Amino acid sequence: MARLEGRVAILTGGAKGIGRHYAGALAKEGARLMIADVADGRQVAADIAREHGANSVASSVTDVSDESAVKALVATTMERFGKIDILVNNAALFAPLAEQKFTDIDIALWDRVMAINVRGVFLMAKHVAPHMIAQKYGKIINISSGTVARGIPLFAHYVTSKGAVTAFTRATSRELGEHNICVNNLAPGFTLSDSVIDENPQHLQHSRAPSITRRALKRDEYPEDLLGALVFLASADSDFITGQTIAVDGGATNN
Ligand SMILES: NC(=O)c1ccc[n+]([C@@H]2O[C@H](COP(=O)([O-])OP(=O)(O)OC[C@H]3O[C@@H](n4cnc5c(N)ncnc54)[C@H](O)[C@@H]3O)[C@@H](O)[C@H]2O)c1
Repeated sequence: MARLEGRVAILTGGAKGIGRHYAGALAKEGARLMIADVADGRQVAADIAREHGANSVASSVTDVSDESAVKALVATTMERFGKIDILVNNAALFAPLAEQKFTDIDIALWDRVMAINVRGVFLMAKHVAPHMIAQKYGKIINISSGTVARGIPLFAHYVTSKGAVTAFTRATSRELGEHNICVNNLAPGFTLSDSVIDENPQHLQHSRAPSITRRALKRDEYPEDLLGALVFLASADSDFITGQTIAVDGGATNN
């Protein structure tokens, strides 16, 4: 049997990049899926519907930093699928970010990164958790980053935001444990998503080779490398694991 049969998932940031691959993996394991993204996820949803049936998937254009939009997304998901078992907080302001000294980052950009990467994760968890609490089961997977452990330069806004996500995961795992809800971080290393390749050639050029150098496993990382850990954290196989960070980065960091 597929490992997520009967489960319902919300995946944020599922319209492109790594999220598109997460969507396919969750659907392949039997989960019914709501894809939420500021970008249009209809094509990803149509591909999944073709393979797994029209009732397996829906998509919503949602800004995770906007509380009213998040509330509407959660309500629509409940109406459409009747419950929420899995939340993957993957949406973030990442691929378009340019390398910048922290002394050059303006307040508006700093606040925008925090609003999407931190407030968005908080809002999604805040509005999904009551439904998980009511059913006494849930899996929240927050997408962090290997940059937190390494504190890389020239991305202080992003690294700080993912550090906050890591701390949020630990804190909320303590609050939600009594309700049988697991909250974990999945921390990718530098991954060749189509977003990074298409939107940030400078980042690609600067980060690709050094990423390979610091790994134990000396090769590029692809979205497909993350899917096993994602499904593991979403499935009953990880029911006694919470508050943890799983680094999927070829051994670059040791959490
Ligand atoms: N690619 C990497 O090297 C890498 C490494 C570590 C962590 N990550 C994390 O993995 C995730 C996916 O990264 P990616 O490489 O696919 O890059 P990406 O920038 O394409 O992924 C972000 C996704 O979030 C969506 N998004 C942006 N703002 C949003 C908002 N306000 N509301 C809803 N959705 C919004 C984007 O449209 C996109 O689909 C991100 O959380 C990123 O921080 C990526």
